[in-house]
Amino acid sequence: MRHLIDITDLTVGEIDELISVSERIIDDRQSFSDICKGKKIATLFFEPSTRTRLSFEAAMLELGGSVLGFASADSSSASKGESVSDTVRTVGCYADIIAMRHPKEGAPMAASKYSPVPIINAGDGGHNHPTQTLADLLTIQREKKRLDSFTIGFCGDLMFGRTVHSLINALSRYENIKFIFISPEELRLPAYIKEDTLNKKGIPFTEVERLERVIPMLDILYMTRVQRERFFNEADYVRLKDSYILEPQKLLSAKKDLSILHPLPRVNEISHNIDDDPRACYFKQVLNGKYIRMALILKLLGLEG
Ligand code: CP
Repeated sequence: MRHLIDITDLTVGEIDELISVSERIIDDRQSFSDICKGKKIATLFFEPSTRTRLSFEAAMLELGGSVLGFASADSSSASKGESVSDTVRTVGCYADIIAMRHPKEGAPMAASKYSPVPIINAGDGGHNHPTQTLADLLTIQREKKRLDSFTIGFCGDLMFGRTVHSLINALSRYENIKFIFISPEELRLPAYIKEDTLNKKGIPFTEVERLERVIPMLDILYMTRVQRERFFNEADYVRLKDSYILEPQKLLSAKKDLSILHPLPRVNEISHNIDDDPRACYFKQVLNGKYIRMALILKLLGLEG
């Protein structure tokens, strides 16, 4: 039985295969429409979500399967003190696969030790979000036709942004990628990621505070929101929340084929005036998230053939 807790649980070859299955699904959705007939996914969301939960549910429904689950800890027996291990042992009696989001880092990993069915980490605290990374990689592949040899700028809350952490981890396994990290001093990428993922592999990176300084160099700009829910005090959040606001004027010096990604939800960090710019890819990312989750469900259920 396979779980997906961290993006490195998948080899580069397996990621390529998931991308290829997603592209087959995009081209011929009908052929996949009842492949999961009789199968159920449980979405256990102890923390809010729009895209991840609903895309897992849409993915399973489009594969012909069914869904069950809960959208907040308050509506589950976690509110009475039930442990994550007991929860997944229970839900494993009802469902064939579980997608779990939890505010505590490591909770999906702990759940995987007890679960009788595959567990997918749908986001754990400020740690990891591997299925968002799969959506990001599918989007990059479709926009750039490659997953190597580009310059990517990560901008915003790099300290708490779990999607950033997972995507850096994934891209560190591809060749010739230049990383530029754009953030306020207080929201820089955690030292453990710089050390364990980049320095250990000899991958160079640059850290800057001003987006304007580096935007002309970028092939991909990965914007992120400041993660209010991870701050210890509101005053710090208020001070930092509008550190970066991408507006049309800032794109004047950007490449014509720049791809602008954002895992969403956005707050203020990308002006709505940019949504119709052909370089804005964030709603394509949302749709790609459904297709790659379809491919992932098939893989973890052993149904990819
Ligand atoms: N990208 C993402 O995880 O969005 P949600 O929080 O809406 O699931």
